[in-house]
Amino acid sequence: MIGVHQKYTGDQPGLEYKSPTYGAPPAFELAQLKMDPPRTPPVSSRLARGTESRGRATDGAPAMHSSSRCQQFHWIAQGREDGSPIDPTTSSPWVNRAATRIYVFAITIITVSALALMVDVFYKETGVLSVRQKTIGVVLVLFAVYTQTLLRAEHVYHTKMTQSGCKPINTYRNNPLGIPFLLESGKALKANRFLQLRAEQLQIWGRTFQTRLFPETAMTIITDDPDNLKTILSTRFEDWIIPEQRIKGFLPVLGSHSIFTTNGPEWQHSRAMLRPAFVRDQISDLECFDKHIKKLTKRIPRDGTRFDLQAMFAMLTIDSISDFMFGRSTDVLGTAAERDVKFGTWFDASIVKIAWRARLGWVTQVLPDSEFNKYAQFVHRYVDELVEARKGYLSTNPNTSEGRRYVFLDELLRAGEPDEVIRSQLLSIFLAGRDTTTSVLTYMFLKLSQRPEVVGRIRNEIRDLGVVDPTWEQLKNLKYLNWVVKESLRLNPPVPSNAREAIRDTILPRGGGSDGKSPIFIPKGSVCRYGVWTMQRRHDLYGDDAHDFRPERWESLKVGFEYLPFNGGPRICIGQQFALTQMAMVAFRLLQAFKYIERKDERPPVLKVAINSSLLHGCWVSMTPA
Ligand code: HEM
Repeated sequence: MIGVHQKYTGDQPGLEYKSPTYGAPPAFELAQLKMDPPRTPPVSSRLARGTESRGRATDGAPAMHSSSRCQQFHWIAQGREDGSPIDPTTSSPWVNRAATRIYVFAITIITVSALALMVDVFYKETGVLSVRQKTIGVVLVLFAVYTQTLLRAEHVYHTKMTQSGCKPINTYRNNPLGIPFLLESGKALKANRFLQLRAEQLQIWGRTFQTRLFPETAMTIITDDPDNLKTILSTRFEDWIIPEQRIKGFLPVLGSHSIFTTNGPEWQHSRAMLRPAFVRDQISDLECFDKHIKKLTKRIPRDGTRFDLQAMFAMLTIDSISDFMFGRSTDVLGTAAERDVKFGTWFDASIVKIAWRARLGWVTQVLPDSEFNKYAQFVHRYVDELVEARKGYLSTNPNTSEGRRYVFLDELLRAGEPDEVIRSQLLSIFLAGRDTTTSVLTYMFLKLSQRPEVVGRIRNEIRDLGVVDPTWEQLKNLKYLNWVVKESLRLNPPVPSNAREAIRDTILPRGGGSDGKSPIFIPKGSVCRYGVWTMQRRHDLYGDDAHDFRPERWESLKVGFEYLPFNGGPRICIGQQFALTQMAMVAFRLLQAFKYIERKDERPPVLKVAINSSLLHGCWVSMTPA
């Protein structure tokens, strides 16, 4: 069912992942490579083929710009004055020398004038300078220090790069201090075209390139190269951590003990706590999924009235996850109290805020946000009450978890974990298990509403199975249905991009030199942002029809790190089997009960990216009973 990388054994009983030694000295052997003479600039095969179309695709994914326009931009961005293209990487020693001279000149001027102003500020009893002039002086000094830090980092980088035998990495040009890159990303996010922008950038600058992000002094690497992802997530896992910025963004809601806000031994502890909840015996208990899916099926109008499937799936996933992990369902699809519904809504609202905080960093983290605090406080109170209620239940029924062998919350309570840790873990599971599954299910049914023949084929498969209530094994063996799930995860990975931070100097295997195929040096503190969405739509990896929804491709497709909807390596999604089972079961039940799905929305579907992707306007459909 899953790709090669997902054979990682850390979560299989008896094959425990061995802890990396955090803080150990650099473990990489330096690549012994010689510099090659300049070659042609990297123009992706995609650009050369020119197969992209304009406009928005039918699945909410924005279509790419035409290749000719990209190519033109490529030459303008990187070309010489006579219009001929230059190689962005092999020319970089020249670029660096020129840049260094400009930097040194500018910094000398700024430092001298700023110092003159500072002398006035600090040593003249009655300053001759106005407050405004003094402020400018201080700003100039800070600017000088900042640019000098950048300059120094650049020199250290080039020295270490040469020593390690690596080659220069493509650099996003015309980007003073990384500000244009940042503004462009912010604009694209607002316009819901962030993934499209990232895909364009990766075409233009190569599958791995570097940029700066003001005010960070560390390097930011953007990549969607499977070899690099394999190195970051698996082979050199111990060199990379969850970035500090993301942790800070998540902290106010998830707390400091969550699996998503910890690295090293604390993360391993969280993972070990969660693991028993996801062993096969637990996942194969289909009853826990089925009772909520049946409630969903009942709520679907039979008379052709349109309804928002995305909202329905959000209710389903919160009900299932709360039931499975905490022994009590929020029951939003059933008879939920107003407070339970409010929890779902406010939790969602806090996640949207978290996404902005994690992305925009210190700016959002230092500004007060009373609305965000209100959401976080309510969400914390709700979970604390849930825990208290469960404590009460267990005190009168000490040996039971309602017939189930493992209820995560009960085990945390029995282990005597502090309340704060319990709250962190519970909220992480809500975060991890809700929007992700909702996103894939919504996308899958959007596709089904456009592809009646796929619906027909799944229904035939269900009919041929000949049972009303499938077992877990039977569900897993429904080949075509599982291809549909995999294809939905390929075109719409709910975590479309992700990031890791290097905790020591390290090397990535690809991205250097004129062809982008040589190793690159990564200084400690650099952040690598990797695009799963862009990678899983690459034509050179998935063929000319990479952007098409074609479940049949999975008949012969073998994938490794080019397919990462659940991440890979030791931090692979722990709920992967839970999610796959739940999604297959939802498809099974809904297509057992309904024969047509019709999209009932004039607006084109638009993919929105927060922490997870979702459809901006929801997924309005009507369904015809079988
Ligand atoms: C289609 C559904 C899902 C997808 C695509 C998905 C994807 C992912 C991805 C990409 C990560 C890596 C995040 C990172 O390290 O930056 C992750 C981690 C995680 N997921 Fe999922 N997930 C899904 C469903 C679930 C469910 C249902 C649960 C729990 C019930 C879950 C629990 C977790 C946990 C606990 C982690 C953290 C693992 C760690 O850091 O060690 N996920 N998931």
